[in-house]
Amino acid sequence: MIRLRNLSRVYGQGPSATAALRDICLEIPEGAFATVVGTSGSGKTTLLNILGGLDSGYLGEAQVAGRELRALTDRERSAYRNETVGFVFQHFALLEHLTALQNVALPAFFANAREPAPERRAAEVLARVGLGERLHSYPGQLSGGQKQRVAIARALYRRPRLILADEPTGNLDTATGAQIISLFEELNREDQITVVVVTHEDFLFKNVTCKVRLEDGRQVEGAPC
Ligand SMILES: Nc1ncnc2c1ncn2[C@@H]1O[C@H](COP(=O)(O)OP(=O)(O)OP(=O)(O)O)[C@@H](O)[C@H]1O
Ligand SMILES: [Mg+2]
Repeated sequence: MIRLRNLSRVYGQGPSATAALRDICLEIPEGAFATVVGTSGSGKTTLLNILGGLDSGYLGEAQVAGRELRALTDRERSAYRNETVGFVFQHFALLEHLTALQNVALPAFFANAREPAPERRAAEVLARVGLGERLHSYPGQLSGGQKQRVAIARALYRRPRLILADEPTGNLDTATGAQIISLFEELNREDQITVVVVTHEDFLFKNVTCKVRLEDGRQVEGAPC
């Protein structure tokens, strides 16, 4: 599913240049559950941004589902970001003035091929994450864990094959975070979605098949080339 070869990312130029990733080699098979750990500034978000097609300023190879991400045309890249990948963030990134249902159906407005019944699909994925009873609640009326469930439902809406989550439990207490992790594990197991999660709490994960540890942009744990 994911194949990285000598992946490097340097921000800036000259004396102020920062090597955020250095020569990463990694294979994450289809259906895997991968965690990415490492201290602040070790390159975790940089890696996720590349995998998500948000950053193509890298050196080396980054292939997802058999395609080199840098080689995608603008149109292919936006299809990749909208359809192949689902993103989940630490701060939920929900729109406060929209209900859970409307937040989840939002990707329909950016899609070329419109979902035939956006609200039905949104209700379906909200039920999938355990929020079937809160379709019309606004983010301000939901707990942190419930907000993150809405965000996960939004990521699932377009039926992604890959979920990329950047510290999805970073804003949650440990017990709530553990429930969110179980939900990711369930989606991986039951819906065969490949999951890559950046986390500081990898001890909470039960079914990790692939563990990546970054230190100063270098991979110090994980499958070598
Ligand atoms: N847009 C940017 N421009 C310049 N430098 C950047 C940029 N984004 C990240 N960096 C630098 O690249 C390195 C890796 O950053 P990155 O955000 O990937 O780390 P991280 O592991 O996600 O950290 P955190 O745990 O704090 O989120 C850091 O030294 C950071 O300062
Ligand atoms: Mg980060």
